[in-house]
Amino acid sequence: MLAALKKYLMIPRLVRLSAGAPRDHHVAWDLFWSSVKSTGATGDVLWDSGSDHEMQGYVDRLRLHLDPGLPVVDIGCGNGSFTRQLAAHFPHAMGVDVSAHAVRRAVSESSGLANVSYVVRDMTAPDAGGGLGEELRLLGGGGRAGAGANVFIRGVLHVLGERERHALAENVRAITGMNGRVFLAETDFQGNAVEYVSHLGATLRSIPSPLEGAIRGLPMPGRFGPKERSLAFPAGRWELIEDGPTAIETMPLSDPTRADLIPGYFAVLRARN
Ligand SMILES: C[S@@+](CC[C@H](N)C(=O)[O-])C[C@H]1O[C@@H](n2cnc3c(N)ncnc32)[C@H](O)[C@@H]1O
Repeated sequence: MLAALKKYLMIPRLVRLSAGAPRDHHVAWDLFWSSVKSTGATGDVLWDSGSDHEMQGYVDRLRLHLDPGLPVVDIGCGNGSFTRQLAAHFPHAMGVDVSAHAVRRAVSESSGLANVSYVVRDMTAPDAGGGLGEELRLLGGGGRAGAGANVFIRGVLHVLGERERHALAENVRAITGMNGRVFLAETDFQGNAVEYVSHLGATLRSIPSPLEGAIRGLPMPGRFGPKERSLAFPAGRWELIEDGPTAIETMPLSDPTRADLIPGYFAVLRARN
């Protein structure tokens, strides 16, 4: 019992670390990405496992529910690790991120891939989704005018507040139109912040450095499960096609030979008329 409570002695350190994070979330994300020196299994980005294993687990559902003839927009693409993998399944994959530094890194990590492009945009801003379909068409991204695009979101909604999630969902609607589908996968950890960081290998003595970097610089993540999905994508505006549990893979933290897993939630949705 006492041993289980011992981890709460981490709280002062966690508070000190997170106190330095910029209050403006967009500034925080861009500063974070500007400090990233490397990505993948041994890099600085907690949620980039450097492996395609998580994506392989999504492929059957993407094939089942999403039109492979439409392009896909990866919202909150970060360094583009999933955008590049999506490009193998759709005529074009466009990554969009609020951070210019993230997009710069994504572009350089994607060099040589013809059907991948990136845009810097705050996807919670009014009308942020409006022009993307047309931009995709001009890039030769497949699809007829107004046909819509699929949307992929991984690990983004759980870092947004309720109002921002709702605004993002409305922009997603402008992208999908009636033909595109949404696939989202988010962390849905059922515990408090101390339990969360302990799950990812933090102890009283040490915190894995990519985790420490995230705590130091980024907004505190929340959880995104069925309840949060039904608030952000209300039933009157969205049809839920499938949902369920999944696992979000991080870079190896507790064992250098394998990714760590965060309990997560996936959903497939389409806009109602
Ligand atoms: C946890 S990372 C996930 C990155 C990527 N989806 C992945 O799984 O590798 C969250 C990403 O969302 C981006 N982001 C946060 N708020 C955003 C917004 N309002 N519009 C677009 N991107 C945003 C951040 O810059 C960051 O790259």
